[in-house]
Amino acid sequence: MTQRKGIILAGGTGSRLWPITMGVSKQLLPLYDKPMIYYPLTVLMLADLRDIAIITTPEDQDQFRRLLGDGSQWGLRFTWIEQPRPEGLAQAYILAERFLDGAPSAMALGDNVFFGHGLPELLAAADARVTGGTVFGYRVADPERYGVVDFDAAGQVRAIVEKPAVPPSNHAVTGLYFLDGTAPARAARLRPSARGELEIATLLDSYLQEGSLQVQTMGRGYAWLDTGTHESLLDAGNFVRTLQARQGLQIGCPEEIAFSRGWIDRAALERQIARLEKSAYGRYLRALYG
Ligand code: DAU
Repeated sequence: MTQRKGIILAGGTGSRLWPITMGVSKQLLPLYDKPMIYYPLTVLMLADLRDIAIITTPEDQDQFRRLLGDGSQWGLRFTWIEQPRPEGLAQAYILAERFLDGAPSAMALGDNVFFGHGLPELLAAADARVTGGTVFGYRVADPERYGVVDFDAAGQVRAIVEKPAVPPSNHAVTGLYFLDGTAPARAARLRPSARGELEIATLLDSYLQEGSLQVQTMGRGYAWLDTGTHESLLDAGNFVRTLQARQGLQIGCPEEIAFSRGWIDRAALERQIARLEKSAYGRYLRALYG
């Protein structure tokens, strides 16, 4: 079986957060004490994925590379891919086709934040389904801002509708997509929608029509946080701050996951701590590992 690979989609114009994102990519903005992209990155790490493509705009890629390097500091391998224009989430699969080379994938949007007990197990279950796809439905108060799951009377998923004016349910589809190796070929067959994008909802629909899309509910014990507006960005940062202060544990810390999984040794961890020690983040790692 081919090992699943990770994709982080971190392009786009960030225009809903202008003027903040006129000079810097959205996914590099701070979410409290870390760059936003650390959160989806660590979700892929919790899914046990170490071979990860990062898709950015051509203009922003240097900054991402400066931050993240080649991934070896965390025992990961990064492949850098450019998306010249934001032509839709499904385009990521076309851009990543060579990288994937037939492998199944898990794609995380670079601005999505997940937190919750049991997340690694939920991810492992999605990873175990090698054919078809798995997406996660999450109840929100404002589903019209997202892709929304349409259930029939028997609770079966009928469709996924992108930003419907009248949402068919309260269940949004989160920005984390486990798809099998056929995703790039399916994406290549899509035509741009009325808004000029290759739509993820249409790609997911091709699985749904075959009965091979699993919509897994992420229950209320999980946090799926939004960073799409100034308010939700601040709220997400405050959430991270509140929890970290209460527990004394970090959310979205790649060093911690890499070391606990044995992907980096003590010397590599030590190098990271030495680099970071002037910050509270680095001192956290020092206190944790001595
Ligand atoms: O966050 C989950 C939602 O993400 C889903 O519920 C929706 O179904 C899905 O379409 C998406 O909705 P958004 O309104 O958040 O999509 P947006 O166009 O803002 O893009 C999401 C992220 O992906 C954003 O950080 C920018 C990046 N992006 C977007 C496009 C269209 C790219 O990197 N390239 C692109 O071509």
